[in-house]
Amino acid sequence: MSEDGSDVTRLDVKGKQEAYHDWEARTYEDKFNISYDDRCIDYARDRFRRVVDEGERFSRVLELGAGTGFLTINLALAGCLDGAELTVTDISSGMLDVCVENGRRHGVTLQPQPGDAEALPFPDASFDLVLGHAFLHHLPDPAAALAEAHRVLVPGGTLVIAGEPTRLGDRIAGVFKRAAWGGFRAVTTVPRLRHLRRPGIVESGGDARDAALAGLEHEVDLHTFDPADVEAMARVAGFAPVRVVTEELLANWVGWAVRTIEASVRPGVLGERWAFGAFNTWRRLSRIDRALEGVVPAALFYNLILHARRPVG
Ligand SMILES: C[S@@+](CC[C@H](N)C(=O)[O-])C[C@H]1O[C@@H](n2cnc3c(N)ncnc32)[C@H](O)[C@@H]1O
Repeated sequence: MSEDGSDVTRLDVKGKQEAYHDWEARTYEDKFNISYDDRCIDYARDRFRRVVDEGERFSRVLELGAGTGFLTINLALAGCLDGAELTVTDISSGMLDVCVENGRRHGVTLQPQPGDAEALPFPDASFDLVLGHAFLHHLPDPAAALAEAHRVLVPGGTLVIAGEPTRLGDRIAGVFKRAAWGGFRAVTTVPRLRHLRRPGIVESGGDARDAALAGLEHEVDLHTFDPADVEAMARVAGFAPVRVVTEELLANWVGWAVRTIEASVRPGVLGERWAFGAFNTWRRLSRIDRALEGVVPAALFYNLILHARRPVG
């Protein structure tokens, strides 16, 4: 790669995904406040249990676009994947390296396999559960990934993809992100508070290549989804039955404001109390959101969960 990073901008879309996520791998968890404690274990378990019953057991599990392992490791720690062989795949080897290290640190054995979710490196009918979290919106062709998930699942196998942004929910969230960012920038113009700002790439020792890679952030989020389109896409891929659930309204507005501040603030400033406080607020608002489901149109909620089965026949 060139020193000034000029070649980064010439990569195709998948090259950009790989380069950006390789570069981001070591700081990704700090940016999104990902952990492997009660906070994230509860979050992962609650997403999974919205669509998968307690009694269901799986023996061969694959996560697509697994990143640093947030979903699989936290579900394993929650006891949702007991006894299963866990395979993780991602287009970014850098992410998978961190994922395997995280697994080791938390006593979860993972089989890593770099690969493109649109052309999976696994034989047909290899898994009985395929998982994904916040990856589908990065793919140029999400329908191809659903077709691949269908291919690698055994008949009767289950697909669960969570954490995908809805089109309307994302637009509304944008208002809260911009407000939080503007508020944080305004408050930290006060000289006494300036040190709270996260240092820029160059300020924190990065070079032009790092700056070019960081600039890809705005090119790697490719989609937001209409829930009905995701349902139709899964049916076309061959899944039946298919169910799409949306969640997080008020919780998401506050959640994005919190995440925007977390991504803007100098690492280490906020600490665990902030993380748990923010999570508890998010939980309280989620309860209100649950009560609003069925009253407020599903498309206004931010987070989409897809649950589908490969038919037996
Ligand atoms: C926002 S991160 C989510 C990571 C993880 N699932 C999580 O929830 O923390 C998106 C992930 O999708 C991966 N990705 C992007 N394009 C991909 C593709 N075509 N095939 C597989 N993974 C891909 C990225 O490398 C990155 O790890």
